[in-house]
Amino acid sequence: MSRPRSTELRLADHVDRLGAEHPPIHLASVDYTIRRPDVLNERYGHVLDYMARVELEVDRNVLELMTMLPDPPEVDRRFYAEVWHPQETRHGLILDELQVRIGRDNAAADLDHVSAKIKVLGALSHLSPIQDVVRMLYYLTGMSTERSAVLAYNLLHDGLRGLGETALATTVVAQIRRQEPGHYAFYRMSARGLAEQLSGWQRWLVRNMRRISFAPVGANNQHQKADFGDLMRTLGIDREITTFAHQISRVERELLWVRDHGMKVPDYVVAAFKEAVELARARAMPG
Ligand SMILES: [Fe+2]
Ligand SMILES: [Fe+2]
Repeated sequence: MSRPRSTELRLADHVDRLGAEHPPIHLASVDYTIRRPDVLNERYGHVLDYMARVELEVDRNVLELMTMLPDPPEVDRRFYAEVWHPQETRHGLILDELQVRIGRDNAAADLDHVSAKIKVLGALSHLSPIQDVVRMLYYLTGMSTERSAVLAYNLLHDGLRGLGETALATTVVAQIRRQEPGHYAFYRMSARGLAEQLSGWQRWLVRNMRRISFAPVGANNQHQKADFGDLMRTLGIDREITTFAHQISRVERELLWVRDHGMKVPDYVVAAFKEAVELARARAMPG
């Protein structure tokens, strides 16, 4: 399905601007001065590891995209190939380097395994009405992922400042955080544009597939969900699950559930975050 010309032009402009204004972070601009490596590791080591892994796994995400969307609009391809992937891999490299410097192993990132589920979606996507459903799911995932990243980086930034790790807060986290809202804006614009074009059955399918498949960013199995739960607990998100869920799914609710007046926050989002916290708690229990 082709987009209205105005959306297409706005997206192309946006991608041009991101490419020009946000080159991948220069490694020379990063100051790894660490005041107390042990304290930093103890407090935020696992958070850095989680974020490094998710950022590095964009390598796999690009393979997934190429599988799921065999025939993407040109501006989507440019966005992920020329802007998103180069920026995110650099975020991953910087965070991974930081965790090694405080005595941890590199992140165990899965860079190339495309799941059977994704391959099935890809096969179905050869039918263009299905490809639009899959694209919509991709934009929704992009929005919740990028919003989650910004919120988590905000909390990590403040946490690092609180520990007196000002070089890291400023040259690592603040620099990375600055690049995420542009990604979010791309997905939001794309989702808004496509939502208007979906038919009733396509919207129905998007809603149901989203409900079944939603997961917190980077949490692809029970172990990773528990890791995300740990991250939530360290950053204090577990105490504000509904607020967090609301913030990452505001536009999703507007696009998919607006007629469902009772639902302030998509219930599957809240449920997924609660599950992550529960899994983390259970894992932390002795025996
Ligand atoms: Fe990133
Ligand atoms: Fe991002």
